[in-house]
Amino acid sequence: MTVRGLLLLGCGGHARSAANVALACGVTQLVFVDANAKEGERCLGFPLLPDWPSRLPEGWQVLPAAGDNDRRRLQCAQATARGWPLATLIAPTATVGECSDIGAACLIGHHAHIGPAARLGQGCIVNTGAIVEHETVLGAYCHVAINAAVAGRCCLGQAVLIGAGATVIDGLKLGDGVLLGAGACAVSDLAAAGVYLGVPARRAAH
Ligand SMILES: CC(C)(COP(=O)(O)OP(=O)(O)OC[C@H]1O[C@@H](n2cnc3c(N)ncnc32)[C@H](O)[C@@H]1OP(=O)(O)O)[C@@H](O)C(=O)NCCC(=O)NCCS
Repeated sequence: MTVRGLLLLGCGGHARSAANVALACGVTQLVFVDANAKEGERCLGFPLLPDWPSRLPEGWQVLPAAGDNDRRRLQCAQATARGWPLATLIAPTATVGECSDIGAACLIGHHAHIGPAARLGQGCIVNTGAIVEHETVLGAYCHVAINAAVAGRCCLGQAVLIGAGATVIDGLKLGDGVLLGAGACAVSDLAAAGVYLGVPARRAAH
């Protein structure tokens, strides 16, 4: 289905990146919603509303566009409660392998790569230049940040953040709510929710 327009939830950094991907995908009508917006304010030259519109125009879709995993989960729930269709955006420069499955409300950024038979749950972000390799499974609301890489046959739980430039070697399991810090490298399973830093990644003290 052709997307006539996109309602972007949020106007932070990730929402702006998402708008950039949407424009590259040929979506020309964008509206942002953010509770802190001021009357008449615009974002990247497009309207920025303080409240959700009362109805979604025909042919429009909604993209939950908070970079924060928990906020994005809430945005997905709010859009679903209204019965409004969730967009999935894949940048034209991204590559997507065969038999992969990308859920609703996912954003695949510029120059990202999704390997064959990878599966992404609802509301995931695979950000600019990031890699999710073959047969890897991401639970809902994960974020693989810019230039991060998750090697093949990994299994990530829900709302996992792989920080900018971080790496997960092949075949690992990461539990719900794991945050792998920027530049870290996971070389063993990380089961418990929490922050992991360094090479090899170790649980942060606090
Ligand atoms: C790990 C992280 C969550 C910590 O954030 P924070 O709680 O605000 O921590 P602070 O910045 O106060 O730093 C606390 C300590 O951890 C260290 N630290 C922070 N991030 C680190 C990282 N990625 N690797 C190693 N050490 C790190 C700091 O140097 C500081 O050390 P110190 O106490 O010896 O001075 C954050 O730095 C990070 O890596 N977030 C990922 C962000 C990201 O990639 N976003 C995606 C954008 S697309």
